[in-house]
Amino acid sequence: MQEIKLKIAVQKSGRLNEDSIELLKKCGVKFNNGLGKLRASAENFPLEIFFLRDDDIPEYVADGVSDIGIVGENVVFESNGAVETIEKLGFGKCRLSLAVPKNFPYQSLEDFDGKRVATSYPRILSEFFRANGVKSDIHTISGSVEIAPGIGLADAVCDLVSSGSTLFTNGLREVETVMQSEAVLIARKNLDAEALKILEKLLFRIKAVTQAKQNKYILLNAPDEKLSEIIALLPGIKSPTVMPLATRGWSSVHSVINENDFWEIFETLKNKGAEGILVLSIDQMID
Ligand code: PRP
Ligand code: ZN
Repeated sequence: MQEIKLKIAVQKSGRLNEDSIELLKKCGVKFNNGLGKLRASAENFPLEIFFLRDDDIPEYVADGVSDIGIVGENVVFESNGAVETIEKLGFGKCRLSLAVPKNFPYQSLEDFDGKRVATSYPRILSEFFRANGVKSDIHTISGSVEIAPGIGLADAVCDLVSSGSTLFTNGLREVETVMQSEAVLIARKNLDAEALKILEKLLFRIKAVTQAKQNKYILLNAPDEKLSEIIALLPGIKSPTVMPLATRGWSSVHSVINENDFWEIFETLKNKGAEGILVLSIDQMID
């Protein structure tokens, strides 16, 4: 009997490609993603990976070519809603924005009235303009939107912005945010029981990895008389581990802390006498 495999689509190249592959690898899924590969089979997990253009992924998932996929929310919103969003993945954060040529004297959304706006997101953009009472002429193009104003095809663009360098190098200025986006895991709505079982297993691992990313493992040495105050700053998963050091009067404290919280409290920790503070990344976290 042939083993059933869950099919996952990830971006072939571009902003989400590397992080998507890294996420699967951190989930313990081993596969060969050699250059130019269109599909790969995992060696140690019932998963087949397809490398596709991100904008096409929701459709492939809806059609059953793939069972699940990793794409930006922007692409999901633009698709016809035939797929389900399962989990936010915390990477690939960007925004879909309106941008105008640098010399355009932009003041408000009304400035888009009667203008030609090039985008690969006509559905999201027309909804945004409708909600804001703007009547513009949307030109749908599937790639290289940023060059449209330069070649006289449009007066403005609506495109994804991450670092902003694409807009900058094309002489464009971001003026309005249409939506925020990040990478999400999507799935077909009517997966069969077998596929669902594999998805649940993968999802459990994905959650362990994404949760771990937001947290750090912290170790420090604390003078015993300050121990209770220091412990109060480090709640940990249940409570911190405390072990005596070989040097009398000192203890080693181990805990887990949100990365942002660490930067907020490290001064206080030091003021309370903590020494030798080590902060380590966590690969997986299951609580
Ligand atoms: C988006 C967008 C820009 C780029 C913006 O492309 O179309 O080209 O990212 O990033 P920056 O602000 O860091 O320069 P996407 O990743 O969706 O790839 P695609 O256009 O090939 O689908
Ligand atoms: Zn894209």
